[in-house]
Amino acid sequence: MSEGAHLRKQEAGRPDASHQTILYLEDLNVSFDGFKAINNLSLHIDAGELRCIIGPNGAGKTTMMDIITGKTRPDSGKAFFGQTLDLLRMSEPEIANAGIGRKFQKPTVFESHTVAENLELAMHGDKGVWHSLWAKLNGEQQAQIDATLLTIGLTEHYRRPAGALSHGQKQWLEIGMLLVQKPYLLLVDEPVAGMTHQEMGRTAELLTSLAGQHAVVVVEHDMDFVRSIARKVTVLHQGSVLAEGSMDEVQDDPRVIEVYLGE
Ligand SMILES: Nc1ncnc2c1ncn2[C@@H]1O[C@H](COP(=O)(O)OP(=O)(O)O)[C@@H](O)[C@H]1O
Ligand SMILES: [Mg+2]
Repeated sequence: MSEGAHLRKQEAGRPDASHQTILYLEDLNVSFDGFKAINNLSLHIDAGELRCIIGPNGAGKTTMMDIITGKTRPDSGKAFFGQTLDLLRMSEPEIANAGIGRKFQKPTVFESHTVAENLELAMHGDKGVWHSLWAKLNGEQQAQIDATLLTIGLTEHYRRPAGALSHGQKQWLEIGMLLVQKPYLLLVDEPVAGMTHQEMGRTAELLTSLAGQHAVVVVEHDMDFVRSIARKVTVLHQGSVLAEGSMDEVQDDPRVIEVYLGE
């Protein structure tokens, strides 16, 4: 990217990942009615990294994602997107526009619209359904929709109503709806819950293929799935990082074993 283009992106509120790191969380704390859900949490994610976050129920995984996306404000600590964007001073829409996409557990596609229309709606963001469905796509936008359909494996289904898709296909469509917004960081909460074995395999391929172009943070309970995609794994426990490393390293860590046996 030229210096000029780089600056324009900055001005538009996009992150500066020139130091490799796309997400910095430092010493975050959140209490709910005196209960410490997040406790001196520090975590760094590199641009393009695929990171798995595991940890027992109540470890603070969802609360961490709520902080990153601006839904929950911490009592103290720092959260930066790239070098310059202070997430704690940004609204939820500003954070989404800056390039953080979040996939919730339950798919939220527009069931009566086709697969392609769902992607178009997501691409136009907040301009409204009516505008989105009537606005003609330019060549670049059409190419992006086509590329996204291919990535999420739904090319042959583009004219079907989203409501007719299988559970797994809806999940992929929703990932596609995030991708057309060109996120730098994707947060994915329990992507394979309720999926068939085959759909899980396809989801593993999909998330792995996204890394490199986007940083992807996956929270997941299914350990076989985590093992199938894991590079670096972070174990959360009682609102802090308990262990971090390869899947083998964290699984052999006595502190991790103790926490999971105690569940
Ligand atoms: N809005 C809230 N009000 C009160 N307690 C909450 C709230 N959100 C989360 N908690 C509590 O904070 C802890 C961490 O929750 P959560 O982040 O959902 O964990 P995880 O996603 O790892 O299972 C849990 O004990 C949960 O009950
Ligand atoms: Mg959770």
